[in-house]
Amino acid sequence: MRRSGPCDNRLGPEFDERKDTMKPLHSLALKVEGGKLWVLDQTRLPDQECWLEGDAPMAMVGHIQRLSVRGAPLIGVAAALCFARYAEGGASPKALEEAYRHLRSARPTAVNLMWAMDRMQAALSGGGSVLELVNLAEAIFEEDVALCEALADRGAALVSRGEAVLTHCNAGALATAGIGTAVGVIRRAFELGNLSHVYVDETRPLLQGARLTAWELVRAGIPHTLITDSMAAILMREGRVQRVFVGADRVAANGDFANKVGTYGLAVQAAHHGVPFHPVAPWSTVDLACPNGHAIPIEERRAEEVRGYGELRWAPEASPVFNPSFDVTPVGLVTSLVLDRAVLTQAELRAGKLSRF
Ligand code: MRU
Repeated sequence: MRRSGPCDNRLGPEFDERKDTMKPLHSLALKVEGGKLWVLDQTRLPDQECWLEGDAPMAMVGHIQRLSVRGAPLIGVAAALCFARYAEGGASPKALEEAYRHLRSARPTAVNLMWAMDRMQAALSGGGSVLELVNLAEAIFEEDVALCEALADRGAALVSRGEAVLTHCNAGALATAGIGTAVGVIRRAFELGNLSHVYVDETRPLLQGARLTAWELVRAGIPHTLITDSMAAILMREGRVQRVFVGADRVAANGDFANKVGTYGLAVQAAHHGVPFHPVAPWSTVDLACPNGHAIPIEERRAEEVRGYGELRWAPEASPVFNPSFDVTPVGLVTSLVLDRAVLTQAELRAGKLSRF
């Protein structure tokens, strides 16, 4: 999507005069630089690289809801850093409490957001100083970088020489503070010389595959082919895909998981064609309080996202629309779940091994 308009999102003087203790941080889609928190506006990719200020909690809530900042791990990291920056700016306990509630509920499906915000809130209510909040938010950023590395090593070990893989949505560096989850695995398999090709689902309706994953793969020089979501089954039937790696927004205790809508259909197709199917997720995406996929809240988004794209509309305005942003893939379709700590097979997931970690 090409968005017009100036690339300026400055917050105003009250956010320009803060004292800084937060250290500089850099990832592909998020940075702390010049005493401010910045997020890359992912709605403008791949055409424009435009950075938005992220220091004000309500501005950050808007960035998260518009998907300028997106991807399960990244929204948790961004919200935690924003909260710490707000504390650094001298926000009152009441203002922090409100910021916590708004940031935590900005999107409902990715549990990483609640996981990160609950850690920040626990530190605050435990009497943590501003410096401790800043240190914790920095640690959440750095943990995510390390989790991605561990996922990449474990997942890439599944890929044999010459394999072509398929991925859906964007579970890459744009979606995390590190190299990504599913795309991190793909990147590592490529570095090891084992990966021959990546097929990228465009990922309707918001095209995270076409706009974001393809952009990352071009930058990384990884050979890939973009397809519409409806073309994946043909590739599988023709034996052109040996493995599917996808991200996750929430993994339930029984191994069911939510990810970008279309993932469930892809898993059904993979099972039908005997193609191994692997969700890739850091521990921060596992929600043991969720017994199974039925308990995962699924975000529904605006009808306009399906009737058209950006300013272009191709469906009648009067047509009713169904637009769940995520779907749930049952554990019975999972070959194995790649976690930072282990790779769990479907049998191990069914035996409840996730809860015993
Ligand atoms: O709506 P989005 O773009 O935030 O959805 C993102 C996904 O579904 C990703 O696959 C998931 O968050 C994992 S990102 C490492």
